[in-house]
Amino acid sequence: MGSGIAQVAAQAGFDTIVREISQPLADKARAGIEKTLAKGIEKGKVTAAERDAAMARLRFTTGLKEFASCDIILEAVAEDLELKNGLWKELHAICPEPTIFASNTSSLTIAAMAAACGRPDRMLGLHFFNPVPLMKLVEVVRTITTTDDTFERAFQFVKDLGKEPIRAKDNSGFVVNLLLVPYMLDAIAALEGNVASVEDIDKGMQLGAGHPMGPFTLLDFVGLDTVYKIAEIMFDEYREKRYAPPPLLKRMVLAGMYGRKSGKGFYDYSEDPPRVTALGL
Ligand code: CAA
Repeated sequence: MGSGIAQVAAQAGFDTIVREISQPLADKARAGIEKTLAKGIEKGKVTAAERDAAMARLRFTTGLKEFASCDIILEAVAEDLELKNGLWKELHAICPEPTIFASNTSSLTIAAMAAACGRPDRMLGLHFFNPVPLMKLVEVVRTITTTDDTFERAFQFVKDLGKEPIRAKDNSGFVVNLLLVPYMLDAIAALEGNVASVEDIDKGMQLGAGHPMGPFTLLDFVGLDTVYKIAEIMFDEYREKRYAPPPLLKRMVLAGMYGRKSGKGFYDYSEDPPRVTALGL
């Protein structure tokens, strides 16, 4: 998601620094952005001049010192609180006093980062959606220590990115995942209960409820490992059955079936069009 966020920022006119942990990953991020922009040109949504201007505003690095000049830092590292807080502490020592710290976490508590980052008043959540260049929404998440000034600056920044912000409280899942995750888990439970096939559940929600993707296509798209992790965190916070990951989801994650990113999830992506994976149900 980091490269998607960086692309959107650069396209919106912001000088943007992208940090990756190694040069090959930084090169991969650049290539990914170039590919998405090329697709945008193909679709007639981006001009060649806009692509060149966006690429010129992007700087790729493996260091952190460059962030001393930034007004806002958007963090999109793995959903691991220790990893995130280690990074925030390093950044706090580098960044000037007004710099806002924003996490793209989908389920961790912003308060836990605010407490550790050294600037609890200037910390908040900016939660983007996949694929970032196409999805309009950003949840702007304030925790109990976020000041009004920080919140309003971040809210305006999201508008300046050309996205649509909504206000959300620092509750696990915020708004969208609070509703979306139980829906995806229910689809898996329906499959486990032999209510219908993967294709028919997907078709049902696409054609019967107007969703752009059915729940299994969406699960594969978001990543089964990611959904599993988010569900575990939400279950831990709310202790309610509807957030508990169904056994099938856990088994698939254990088997390395993460969805599109691993080539196989509820669908097998080794063929075009993808075929439903035989799960022995
Ligand atoms: N650059 C610019 N525009 C582009 C583009 C690009 N690279 N690629 C496509 N577009 C444009 C298209 O021109 C099209 O625009 P119009 O609607 O104006 O014609 C639009 O984007 C859609 O593109 P496509 O027609 O090629 O693609 P699609 O219709 O198959 O839609 C999709 C793709 C947007 C991903 C759609 O399937 C969708 O909305 N799926 C659901 C995604 C979703 O739910 N995401 C949230 C996941 S949850 C999450 O992320 C949060 C979390 O914490 C887990």
